[in-house]
Amino acid sequence: MIHKIIVATGNAGKMREFRMILADLGLEIISMKDAGVTADIVEDGTTFAENAEIKAKAVWRQTGDIVLADDSGLVVDYLNGEPGIYSARYLGEDTSYEVKNRIIIDRLADAKEEERTARFVCAIAAVLPDGRVLHTEGTVEGVIAHEPAGSGGFGYDPIFWLPEYGCTSAEIPAEKKNEISHRGKALRAMERLLGSLTGTEPADSDSGR
Ligand code: IMP
Repeated sequence: MIHKIIVATGNAGKMREFRMILADLGLEIISMKDAGVTADIVEDGTTFAENAEIKAKAVWRQTGDIVLADDSGLVVDYLNGEPGIYSARYLGEDTSYEVKNRIIIDRLADAKEEERTARFVCAIAAVLPDGRVLHTEGTVEGVIAHEPAGSGGFGYDPIFWLPEYGCTSAEIPAEKKNEISHRGKALRAMERLLGSLTGTEPADSDSGR
């Protein structure tokens, strides 16, 4: 019987979203820090999926529990897909998102409106106690805003404009972001896969989310 899932991330914003999105499973969702894992993980994959698997496996090797990891990022078409898999490291890990977001907006100064398209991508990898690896992926489409707006979410949310909602993903309520986001989609797909394998179906898995 599965009682807990370890999430291989040190990112507090991601951890908050993992906990909210996976609440249905009724399992303990713990961060790698809370699990006492201090792995120094080198993300040297060339895709979101590869990096997610690298992170999940590094933590699984130390715990043997079910481990989930996400690798995610912002893909900006006008910047040929940058920052992409380098989203966390873009312009340096210690550079504030205020600065990163401003620089992305500036780099799109000459872009036409229709050239401002972008998407958030999230790949989730799960390593099961027996070492099997499962993968899911989710995306959400948007455009790069002309000015940052909002204080919700984290990272690039203040410059990710959602045309359908008329605001950025830092301006919508957390529940709404989780409903439509790349991470929400990928995690719910993983939740269904895990549920079918471990008998921990989420309570409302038939609700068509
Ligand atoms: P990772 O931890 O290597 O997967 O890097 C993910 C990075 O992508 C984060 O640090 C953010 O910069 C960005 N990112 C991923 N998901 C989101 C999101 O939901 N909102 C804003 N930024 C995100």
